[in-house]
Amino acid sequence: MTKKLNAAKKAIEYIRDGMTVGLGTGSTVEIMIEELSKKVKSGLNIKCISTSNRTTNFANKFGIIIYEFDSVAKIDLTIDGADEVDPYLRGIKGGGGALLYEKIVAYNSEKNIWIVDDSKLVNKLGNFPLPVEVVPFAARKLLVRFEQMRLKPIIRKSGNKNFITDSGHFIIDCHIGEIDDPKELEKELKMIPGIVEVGLFIDITDLLLIGYSDRVEVIEK
Ligand code: A5P
Repeated sequence: MTKKLNAAKKAIEYIRDGMTVGLGTGSTVEIMIEELSKKVKSGLNIKCISTSNRTTNFANKFGIIIYEFDSVAKIDLTIDGADEVDPYLRGIKGGGGALLYEKIVAYNSEKNIWIVDDSKLVNKLGNFPLPVEVVPFAARKLLVRFEQMRLKPIIRKSGNKNFITDSGHFIIDCHIGEIDDPKELEKELKMIPGIVEVGLFIDITDLLLIGYSDRVEVIEK
């Protein structure tokens, strides 16, 4: 908790008055939103864009208004968490199922900051199951295909039913183990019809803020 809070507080230092800010998804981002709401209450004037229904609901609870993605011309800065980050600032995201909107918002942001605690750091991506967002129509065929590709796929469940993303898709979690070439794997997967998005975030993050219990490490790309 302290580690995430330290990273979250550091991220807020990059937010300036008048900015449009993308809010990621996850527990670390929620800690950041709670801190940010204090600044907004004391006069910080920003516009916020959300990457999930979960984040929108959370932000609203703390008095932060969420603007429609389409209503803003540009996003100055997006702050998000990650499930795994390697030394090249590449990451796996989508543990919370929000990878598609997270990637769209990140791609449309001038600057992207990730906030993580040190437990997210890895030398090679892939121990965290790689989320792949798929069109339900294609899901069964994709599971077979992923088996053939030795990606060890498991369809994500929510209770007895398939987990459904904010945009109405399913998620297949691939228990790959260490990924030798994340960029190549992303390319290969995105060529397959029915795959909407892959939870590999390769050339997206500009700044990584790693929260430790007593400090924050800042890593620039
Ligand atoms: C949401 O889909 C994910 O990409 C999150 O950004 C990621 O799971 C980080 O979440 P935590 O901050 O809860 O670890």
